[in-house]
Amino acid sequence: MRKKFIAGNWKMHKGGKEAIEIAKNVKEGIQDDKVDVMIAPPFTAIPDVGRTLEGGFVKLGAQNMHFEEQGAFTGEISPFFLLDFGVKFVILGHSERRKIFGEVDDLIAKKTAAALTFNLTPIVCVGETLSEREEGKTFDVIERELNTIIPLIDKKKIVFAYEPIWAIGTGKVATPETAVEVHKFIRGKLGDIGQDIRILYGGSVKPENAESLLKEEEIDGALVGGASLNPESFLSIISTARSV
Ligand code: PGA
Repeated sequence: MRKKFIAGNWKMHKGGKEAIEIAKNVKEGIQDDKVDVMIAPPFTAIPDVGRTLEGGFVKLGAQNMHFEEQGAFTGEISPFFLLDFGVKFVILGHSERRKIFGEVDDLIAKKTAAALTFNLTPIVCVGETLSEREEGKTFDVIERELNTIIPLIDKKKIVFAYEPIWAIGTGKVATPETAVEVHKFIRGKLGDIGQDIRILYGGSVKPENAESLLKEEEIDGALVGGASLNPESFLSIISTARSV
């Protein structure tokens, strides 16, 4: 049985006192580990959020990292630095990183390999644009994105997130049927180990649509953007994950 996992991606939102306040509220709202919960604040908030989460059930994540331990990489963050603050998960290959910052499959694979080396659990995002879906290319795109990652899969220590790009931040959530179809495709590509690997859905997950998605056995949780910035809505999604 795969345990449900609700991961919050704050993107470039919240710093300072606000970040601490949200983390504190989420921590207080989670009193056991029936569902895995993670929040990924911006890098600069990681130390404060990490301290705030200490002693609770909510895990700390990062939204990106470099693949080298150190070196002349201006503006980059080493996986090694993340470990100092108790980071356990790292989101890699998010469509915003791919599209806005030009990250390609090979780079994402290098980062995934480095995360595994440093004992960080990568959450690798895959997903198609609206035009790719309309042209019937969804599975080709996802297969291409998976191809460089599959050889790296290390037992269960990797999480995938299916994030259709047309659903991210748009309020247009994928139907459970659409998400399940793609999750099954991804799981099929992973081989036998696929049964143990969690595949999250991401893209406009909100308290109002969480149940219809999370009750699907194929959907092992959610990668939540906008709704993770508000402790009330994030906790509501977590509470749905507990009850389905
Ligand atoms: P959203 O973002 O929930 O705001 O659509 C999801 C994501 O980008 O991870």
